[in-house]
Amino acid sequence: MLGPSLRDREFRLISGIVYDRCRLNLHKGKKALVQSRLSKRLRSLGIENFREYLDYVQENDAEFSIMLDCLTTNYTGFYREPQHFEFLTEVVFPQLDLAEQERIRFWSAGCSSGEEAYSVAIEMKKGLSDIEKKDTLILATDISTRMLDVARTGVYEKDRLANCPPDVLRSFFAHFGPEKGVLYRVRPEVAGLVRFRHLNLVGPWPMKRPFDVIFCRNVMIYFDKATRRELVHRFWEALKPGGILIVGHCESLASIEHAFEFLSPTIYMKRTDARS
Ligand SMILES: C[S@@+](CC[C@H](N)C(=O)[O-])C[C@H]1O[C@@H](n2cnc3c(N)ncnc32)[C@H](O)[C@@H]1O
Repeated sequence: MLGPSLRDREFRLISGIVYDRCRLNLHKGKKALVQSRLSKRLRSLGIENFREYLDYVQENDAEFSIMLDCLTTNYTGFYREPQHFEFLTEVVFPQLDLAEQERIRFWSAGCSSGEEAYSVAIEMKKGLSDIEKKDTLILATDISTRMLDVARTGVYEKDRLANCPPDVLRSFFAHFGPEKGVLYRVRPEVAGLVRFRHLNLVGPWPMKRPFDVIFCRNVMIYFDKATRRELVHRFWEALKPGGILIVGHCESLASIEHAFEFLSPTIYMKRTDARS
């Protein structure tokens, strides 16, 4: 069944609202995608046309969040892009151990349903010495309240854990629910290392103290170049000297000006002699 038609003017209004509030770049080529994804939403609300829907979105903040969820992809997974986790184990954790650092802060920026932050937490449990004596925290933020609700439960279907090595599954997850082998929950000692918070990356950041490592993977693809440049600059400011920025695989910083040192594709360091 064909959905309600989306006029050019309505598409421009939708992309304008989305750009103003969160800098997501819905260019003309995305019109068909916007129409098909939002048509389902209109149907479930019993709204007949996009003009009415636009009035509804503009009067209703919660609907804006739902609309955004329809338009973005929240795809993620445990140990996605595994070399980033190897880099933590082989390079970052030994350095933090050597420095005998007491306070350790990581940030998963655009964390979706939490798998990235929990994968980092598991690797920390495995790879950082004396973690229980340290003040260690992973801040995990996203603009999608729906994804954050999923993330906070820490409960995942078995299929979603396919990339977790068997020893990780045994040690850091427990069966959840009445039926065995269907749902798993991250154990409290892992969940306790992560704090989920709502944050629009293009809005103000309330965090005051700097991070050791920032993951911002597969998020900047949605932004235009000016927004990416600004974001990368803000990440630089938010890191300690020697801190690491990790981006997703199709998100090289090659085309934008930045002050980071290139360590390997998708991994960048704020030089140790940089001002903080
Ligand atoms: C494709 S997921 C990436 C998840 C994870 N980082 C990974 O690589 O597996 C992108 C996430 O970015 C979030 N996002 C998009 N725009 C955002 C913004 N302006 N502020 C915060 N999060 C945003 C989306 O809600 C989505 O959950």
